[in-house]
Amino acid sequence: MRSADRLKSIPPYPFMELRKKIGQARADGIDVISLAIGDPVEPTPQPVIEELARTAADPANHRYPTDEEKGMLAFRQAVARWYAKRYGVDVDPATEVLGLIGSKEGCHHFVLARVNHGETVLMTDPGYPAYRASILIGGGEPVSIPIRPEQGYLPVLADIPSDVARKATAMFVCYPNNPTGAVATPTFLRELVDFAHQYDVAVCYDNPYVEIVFDGERPLSFLSVPGAKDVGVELNSLSKPFNMTGWRIGMVVGNKDLIAAISQVKENTDSGVFNAIQYAGIAAMERCGEEIGHMLGIYAKRRALVLDTLRSVGIDYKPARGTFYLWVPVPNGMSSLEFTTLLFEKARVVVAAGTAYGKYGEGFVRFSLTVPDDRLVEAMERIRKAMGKG
Ligand SMILES: Cc1ncc(COP(=O)(O)O)c(C=O)c1O
Repeated sequence: MRSADRLKSIPPYPFMELRKKIGQARADGIDVISLAIGDPVEPTPQPVIEELARTAADPANHRYPTDEEKGMLAFRQAVARWYAKRYGVDVDPATEVLGLIGSKEGCHHFVLARVNHGETVLMTDPGYPAYRASILIGGGEPVSIPIRPEQGYLPVLADIPSDVARKATAMFVCYPNNPTGAVATPTFLRELVDFAHQYDVAVCYDNPYVEIVFDGERPLSFLSVPGAKDVGVELNSLSKPFNMTGWRIGMVVGNKDLIAAISQVKENTDSGVFNAIQYAGIAAMERCGEEIGHMLGIYAKRRALVLDTLRSVGIDYKPARGTFYLWVPVPNGMSSLEFTTLLFEKARVVVAAGTAYGKYGEGFVRFSLTVPDDRLVEAMERIRKAMGKG
């Protein structure tokens, strides 16, 4: 059966390919350790699970969750409280918040809500692969803006040619950044707001890692900058801070016209998030805030272990301060693919090649810290041996 032409331009989703490769190796009896995928292994906090069980038992929650079109008001109010408390941002739960099936869903529906056929959408390179796919599925034209270590992996907005900026109607931005781990500064966010105003570009600020920051860095919302709400929305998610990737719950917050447009797409597409999961999400935000500090402590130890190991094999670099990824320069003039192949063949450790995130990812690989401690220790021992330091 033929599939639609729009799918032809979309490269295979790198993590599905990786999962297949890892699955095949394991089926062949090889003990592979995957540091390739960002999916927390610790359980979801107990109060969240209990709230799901309690509210799932109530038949009132078994019906379509669409009675209130933007997701339950109680969930949106909890998001508004969370934004006020964590990021110092005031939002109106009635018009400026919408529940999502995770931030990935938000990326896709943002494009459908904003972008007309053939319009340019800016995205950073390296960047999260789902942006390109969302843009292409939505009929837009992705244009990559390089981000480089010399500029702290922040795009230099002044370098975007003005004819490209004029054609653009939207832009994806993500800090703390997947894959580089870079964090934004308030100065950059102000420049982004000015750029978006000047060129009438709607910003989709994808912020699922906002809570995952180290070394004294504070969580920073795009919406904390004056004028941000006039030019864009922020996607956020309970996946990463509360170990809830499988639950599929997140939110989009900000510009009320964009929120209304995304809501219109969703009403006609997915009918929203199971009410019991929304109640569980409220429990996460209201009762599990301290879990985040606990998880950050775990990730900080793993970061230190990986950085020590890399240093011991001659890879010494200054890591960025966000996300549970390390964006590691490839040693000895190898390509990203050559280094991932070496680690796979000699250490049976899988890391993600930088080029999976775009051509400017060449020369880097991404290590994810979402792996049990004992497996990470084992992986580091294997890497040391594979690099001749064991
Ligand atoms: C940059 C970025 N955005 C969005 C997502 C998807 O998050 P969610 O689970 O909220 O859909 C991910 C997941 O890895 C991500 O890295």
